[in-house]
Amino acid sequence: MSEQRIGGTTGRAQIPNRTTHITGWGHEVPAATLTNADLEKIVETSDEWITTRTGIRERRIASKGETTASMGALAAARALAVAGINADQIDLIVVATLTPDHLMPSTAVLIKGALGSTRAAAFDLSAACSGFAYAYAVAHGFITAGLGQRALVIGAETLSRSVDWSDRSTCVLFGDGAGAIVLEALDLEEGQEGTTRPGTLSFELSADPSGAYALWIPGGVGENADPLIKMDGAKTYVYATRTMAAVATAAIERAGLTPAQVDLVIPHQANIRIIEHVSKAISFPMEKILVNLDKYGNTSAASIPIALSEAVTAGRLKPGDVFCTVAFGGGYTSGAFVTRWGADPAHGARAASVDPASIRVVRPEGGAKADEPPAVLRTFLGKGHR
Ligand code: ACO
Repeated sequence: MSEQRIGGTTGRAQIPNRTTHITGWGHEVPAATLTNADLEKIVETSDEWITTRTGIRERRIASKGETTASMGALAAARALAVAGINADQIDLIVVATLTPDHLMPSTAVLIKGALGSTRAAAFDLSAACSGFAYAYAVAHGFITAGLGQRALVIGAETLSRSVDWSDRSTCVLFGDGAGAIVLEALDLEEGQEGTTRPGTLSFELSADPSGAYALWIPGGVGENADPLIKMDGAKTYVYATRTMAAVATAAIERAGLTPAQVDLVIPHQANIRIIEHVSKAISFPMEKILVNLDKYGNTSAASIPIALSEAVTAGRLKPGDVFCTVAFGGGYTSGAFVTRWGADPAHGARAASVDPASIRVVRPEGGAKADEPPAVLRTFLGKGHR
């Protein structure tokens, strides 16, 4: 069957000349901060080692009652406010996460409840740190296929609950947080074809099972299910440096552009050395790459939507700008997308209208394990570090 024939089959449900664009954005990070100096008291490490090997200086840790769903819901509520729509105008909620509050129900369903949405379809998506690129692609496909007009795409993680706080090779890397966007249908007018068109331009997604057990959480079901991250750091580093540049280049080419025509790259925030490698490999200057891993560490699927939300607030994306996101993660997976920004950054101020107390996720009776921060961190979180 030719590629064209496959496209023709799915095309029956597709809306011609439809793409998507981002109309809302928002993020939420816990207030409690764990610094490298705090980590020196938990494992044998040093601020100097962590900073020079990773670029990370501190990370946020969910306090009691803060969960993947609660942070995701708050980020999503802000994205809705920025887009100027209500929860019932959303047709689909996709949450990318590797740290769902439960295996069932999905985090997306809990977020739907917290937002007061009555009609959206909702599910979680598991693609580790590439999850946001995968979720964006799924939502784009849903909308361009004509199944709905608007989607909430959320990346949310509580990695502090999945980190072995006695393993210095992993515990220094990760943090908690959530980011969200509203993705809406955009019907192109005549003449808006080609490389100058607005909205979502291209994707590149890949999965490489050779890394399945180089970066993993045994977890799953069973009496001895182990929820803690295991990582072969050196192997993952090699994969990351090889794949990030390749995937970003492929997505940019597929958009019909060159790196020079891209205004901002928002990479997955895992390690500054990996990002610097990408910068060199695609000849893209570091000044045009968003970096916030010094403040948050690696927040997995949340890292790109948090960085995107901060980029707009910081005035680094203006209408007409093209940005490329690129990620790698457990699986191994990798993913990139290229989008022309169209929204008015001033709409970001609307996020302040969201009262966090009004966004409540229903928790199981008696609470749940994910509500409690790990015992080893409690003294540090109690001090109200910021
Ligand atoms: N503090 C001090 N020393 C440490 C620490 C630490 N926190 N961690 C490891 N070391 C030691 C090691 O034990 C080793 O000691 P040895 O030489 O005596 O054996 C030494 O430091 C060097 O260790 P390396 O692993 O060679 O350090 P490297 O320069 O490779 O950096 C790192 C390690 C930062 C983990 C790097 O390999 C990396 O970034 N890998 C990619 C990891 C990543 O991004 N994972 C997230 C994937 S995204 C997702 O889907 C979750």
